[in-house]
Amino acid sequence: MSKPQNRYFAMTTPGFEAICAAELVALGIAEPEPLCGGVEFSGDLRELYLANLWLRSASRVLVRVGEVTARDFPTLFKRLLRLPWGRFVKPGSSCKIRVTCHRSRLSHSGRVAETCLAAIAKALGDVAEDSAAPVSVFLRLEADRCQVSIDSSGELLHRRGYRMANVAAPLRENLAAGCLLALGYDGSRPLIDAMTGSGTFAIEAALMALNRAPGAGRQFAFMAWPKYRPGLWQQLLQQAQRAEKTALAAPILALDNNPRAIAAARQNLMTAGLAEQVQLDCRPMQQLQSRQPSGLLICNPPYGERIGRTAALLALYRDLGRIYAAVFSAWQGAIICPDSELVRATGIPFESRLRFSNGGIRVALLQKP
Ligand SMILES: C[S@@+](CC[C@H](N)C(=O)[O-])C[C@H]1O[C@@H](n2cnc3c(N)ncnc32)[C@H](O)[C@@H]1O
Repeated sequence: MSKPQNRYFAMTTPGFEAICAAELVALGIAEPEPLCGGVEFSGDLRELYLANLWLRSASRVLVRVGEVTARDFPTLFKRLLRLPWGRFVKPGSSCKIRVTCHRSRLSHSGRVAETCLAAIAKALGDVAEDSAAPVSVFLRLEADRCQVSIDSSGELLHRRGYRMANVAAPLRENLAAGCLLALGYDGSRPLIDAMTGSGTFAIEAALMALNRAPGAGRQFAFMAWPKYRPGLWQQLLQQAQRAEKTALAAPILALDNNPRAIAAARQNLMTAGLAEQVQLDCRPMQQLQSRQPSGLLICNPPYGERIGRTAALLALYRDLGRIYAAVFSAWQGAIICPDSELVRATGIPFESRLRFSNGGIRVALLQKP
């Protein structure tokens, strides 16, 4: 008889579900199911560890612990008590509980959290709530059905550990990686990030090109579970190390006209162990020359949330249009910014590949036809 499989949910920024599903398939995980805001999949601990270690576009991985129906607090308590808390929470430890309630008789999220904590404490003995605890329980009440999940990731997955230096308006690491995957980047072609800021595209591209696991150097919430299997984790880490490439197949160039951005990108590249692989250049993108016949030209230009829509910004987008259409005419070209009149100023009929929210601002991944 086959072992019962757990159900997992890889959370993504809405828009990246299909990309994350393709990543899961590439990890050998069968039949991932894209839903709104993430992808459900089945597996054992191995698949859970693999997802945390390798997923580039996801923000966290949840374990579906169970679903209970309740219209009053005593029923909720009784049904929550039956869930397998001992797999995830150590007696005498603490956890944090996050609750959302929609269209349900039980609408007081604070009392739902208290009821859940009381059920865990009754099941395991002494357990306290602590907002800094490594174990997070998510309760989602929808039409009186309470879905219970446990976070296996801890810190969000975009925190790879390399971004020590920042610039204004950086792109999240998992969104940058998701855009590169959506564009079919696999490290076999040259890549230029024409406005690199803190270096996110260049670093994510290099991690992908060298087949480095984005989660190899960090800690995860599942490491604090009673049934954590350090031997299995070490085995997956060693397999990942053996699969790493030692050199890039095609060059990666990161450019910015601001010396402070280049300094930040340099520090982040060093922290990521990529200073030797990625070339940095402090120059305006208007001076870019195409030295290879084809490749991927990408950038996340400033879009005026801070600096206002000045004539200088319009001029910058016009220059961008010239570089993309004339100098890099044979290259795949993409920009990530709000789909606004600034984009029209490029003169290029960009096509939208993805629409998503970055730091609360709606942006699009736009590709040159
Ligand atoms: C939105 S930020 C990019 C953020 C980056 N994606 C990250 O994750 O850190 C835009 C960048 O464009 C740079 N920039 C503006 N005008 C430029 C130009 N003419 N040439 C090159 N870089 C430019 C800015 O210095 C800034 O670092």
